[in-house]
Amino acid sequence: MFNALDMAPPDPILGLIETFKKDPNPAKINLSIGVYRDAKNQTPVLQCVKRAEERLVSTESTKNYVSPNSGAMDYAAAVQELLFGADHEIVKSNRAVTAHTPGGTGALRTAGDFMKGLLGAKRIWLSEPTWPNHPSVFEAAGLESATYPYYDAANKSLDFEPMLDALKKIPSGEFVLLHGCCHNPTGMDPTPEQWKAIADVAAKQGWMPVFDFAYQGLADGIREDAAGLSQFLGAGQELMICSSFSKNFGLYNERVGALTVVGESETAAEKALSHLKRVIRTNYSNPPAHGSQIVVTVLNDPELRKLWEGEVKEMRDRIAGMRQLFVDTLKAKGVKQDFAFLTKQKGMFSFSGLTKDHVAELRDKHAVYIVGSGRINVAGMTADNMDALCNAIAAVLGG
Ligand code: LMR
Repeated sequence: MFNALDMAPPDPILGLIETFKKDPNPAKINLSIGVYRDAKNQTPVLQCVKRAEERLVSTESTKNYVSPNSGAMDYAAAVQELLFGADHEIVKSNRAVTAHTPGGTGALRTAGDFMKGLLGAKRIWLSEPTWPNHPSVFEAAGLESATYPYYDAANKSLDFEPMLDALKKIPSGEFVLLHGCCHNPTGMDPTPEQWKAIADVAAKQGWMPVFDFAYQGLADGIREDAAGLSQFLGAGQELMICSSFSKNFGLYNERVGALTVVGESETAAEKALSHLKRVIRTNYSNPPAHGSQIVVTVLNDPELRKLWEGEVKEMRDRIAGMRQLFVDTLKAKGVKQDFAFLTKQKGMFSFSGLTKDHVAELRDKHAVYIVGSGRINVAGMTADNMDALCNAIAAVLGG
């Protein structure tokens, strides 16, 4: 049976990592997967995480299953506090429920299964472009994908009016995926006014916003990055949020994510949670506990939380610094195209405008790895690799 299969195509992001690892060039540069690297080109465990883990190792008394299987209550509370703020009406009125999922991708898949199996969804609307795994995850859940315009490649900006026009045509009862901040892959986020306009359309049309919120803290600040989401939290409004601690806690391999469902009332939210438990039971049964315990320990301890906030700021500031250095270095090398638009983009990613041919040449001739769409992970740049990187880009762009 197995031999009768054709080989599957490599994943557009994870497949690149495999190729990168095999590349013998000692000067190779990896700007592909969205993983943060520090000035020394390392992805270290955050100090706040190490400290929390030391505590957990000495106090942990069981490896029993997490109960309920939707995740621990203190984890749900910590997630909601980050999303909405501690005193938000949604928190006080208990009309949000949170399931602990294996990573943000696990949250998306759980949401997809929930939408398809329980909410009558047939398709989900995705920004064009979007993270290449979005359509695949929802297809695996039995949903079709449709797209709305998002990015104006010629002007390197948000394609806002066409986007809003498209969102105004989506009928009630449909599902629309929005990137909470640090849009993946473009790095272009709506302004607060634009978010408000999108939220007004959602409320008027009655479609369900489904947020992918994987980069909180990496654009402008932990609370600041929830500003777009906060426009959708009016009285009685329903929505879903898929969030992740992979990036802002560096907990990539611990798989710590969450699906939060906000219902019009506490009863509606309780009903949703009862079904999420069943969806989870037939998928992965129980979430992995360790990463969520780290998050809870850090967020609930004033000293560790302060340390975490500082570490997130350090990541955010380093990325912003690399954006500027990249733009300046390309200019200094005589590259004619103006890359200044990169400094308007937020988070790890930049949609560079490099073509598929440029991407292939960068990889094959210069051992620089970026995603085929031209998406660059700015968090993989360092002061040390900047010169070689910009030389390579100058070479493929022809000076
Ligand atoms: C990315 O877009 O690079 C990240 O979200 C990691 C992934 O799983 O693709």
